[in-house]
Amino acid sequence: MNILDIIAKKRDNKELTKEEIEYFVEGYTKGEVTDYQASALVMAIYINGMNDQEITDLTLAMAHSGEVLDLSDLGDVVDKHSTGGVGDKITLILMPIIASLGVPVAKMSGRGLGFTGGTVDKMQSIPGYRTDLTIDEFKQNVKNIGICLMGQTANLAPADKKLYALRDTIACVENIPLIASSIMSKKIAAGANKIVIDVTCGSGAFMKNKEDADKLASIMTRIGELSNRQVVCVQTNMDEPIGHAVGNELEIFEVVDILKGRYLQEDIKHIICELGANMLMLANKANSIEEGKQKILENISNGQAYDKFIQLVSNQGGDASYIEHMEKFEKAKYIVPITAHKSGRITRLDALQVGRLAAYLGAGREKKEDDINPRVGFWFERKVNDEVNEGEILGYIHADDEEKANYVLSQNIFEIN
Ligand code: URA
Repeated sequence: MNILDIIAKKRDNKELTKEEIEYFVEGYTKGEVTDYQASALVMAIYINGMNDQEITDLTLAMAHSGEVLDLSDLGDVVDKHSTGGVGDKITLILMPIIASLGVPVAKMSGRGLGFTGGTVDKMQSIPGYRTDLTIDEFKQNVKNIGICLMGQTANLAPADKKLYALRDTIACVENIPLIASSIMSKKIAAGANKIVIDVTCGSGAFMKNKEDADKLASIMTRIGELSNRQVVCVQTNMDEPIGHAVGNELEIFEVVDILKGRYLQEDIKHIICELGANMLMLANKANSIEEGKQKILENISNGQAYDKFIQLVSNQGGDASYIEHMEKFEKAKYIVPITAHKSGRITRLDALQVGRLAAYLGAGREKKEDDINPRVGFWFERKVNDEVNEGEILGYIHADDEEKANYVLSQNIFEIN
């Protein structure tokens, strides 16, 4: 087999065989296929597409480019994934709830890149919390307390790591077959047989419209069918940030407030109920979506989900006293109120703009190696559709740099009509 023939075949819009796809993925992972050859093939895929069988073959080849975990000894593990968003702290709320309902949670999460946040960064804002466990520790934690939440290991789908970094430099990220295979390869390598995927749709998501979100969802479900995994996709809105907080430590504050039952705003309630009920159904812990939703809300109000979160933090070396006494967290130097410039209804709080500004404040990273500042970001008191009065505080900018805070303030992120 020859990589030039494979590139030419896709360039000419022909279907690749499983063997050809495996040859490419294996060769690229080992460095035998060069970056420029991989770029040519990825661009040909971007332009000419792939059918469901090709996408499944690409997914499985990438999943098997490194270690594939076997979690069968842990019971009915159900994984959860989001296609990305702004203020997306759903994993941190939902996974302790699910674990408190007796479903083993063995979850590997990613870091944030660009305008989207990452669960691992959020957890690392808790002093001492370890996300770099060995696979043995990962499994042992699930056996001991029913939940472990760590970062992806270096050997998890290494072909996807290389291909994703390449796609980022050749304008080939926003492509449904490539996104579907990238996500599903990591889920399969992480040992999941049952997966619920939050397919986000809107300005702060990869999928900007419903038609594309539908396509991505149906391809990922089809990959599941063809690879013997049960996949349920749930679509959620990402036109405005999720909940009140955007920024790593600030999102932990919000997670704790919710798990403590202090408040549960409608957008988050909707997402955790929809995703969680489907997870419980897959784990055979609920007989209907309605029953699943009820169980989820119950375990917030009875404190069991919060107890599980504290147990998770302590078990991974985190200082749980920070969670019990949130005032211990160091705050950003400047907490600047955003006020309403006129009375009326909020018609827009754009997730993409907020995500970019949060990254500019230091909450996100441009490159994988960049450091992030856990303290900075936004806290929103008001959201889209709220009626507000002129001069009213709509939210706060948390910044460590005054000039940056003033720049963000000048951007008028709330549109009022
Ligand atoms: N998330 C991923 O893991 N991969 C993509 O290609 C896009 C979003």
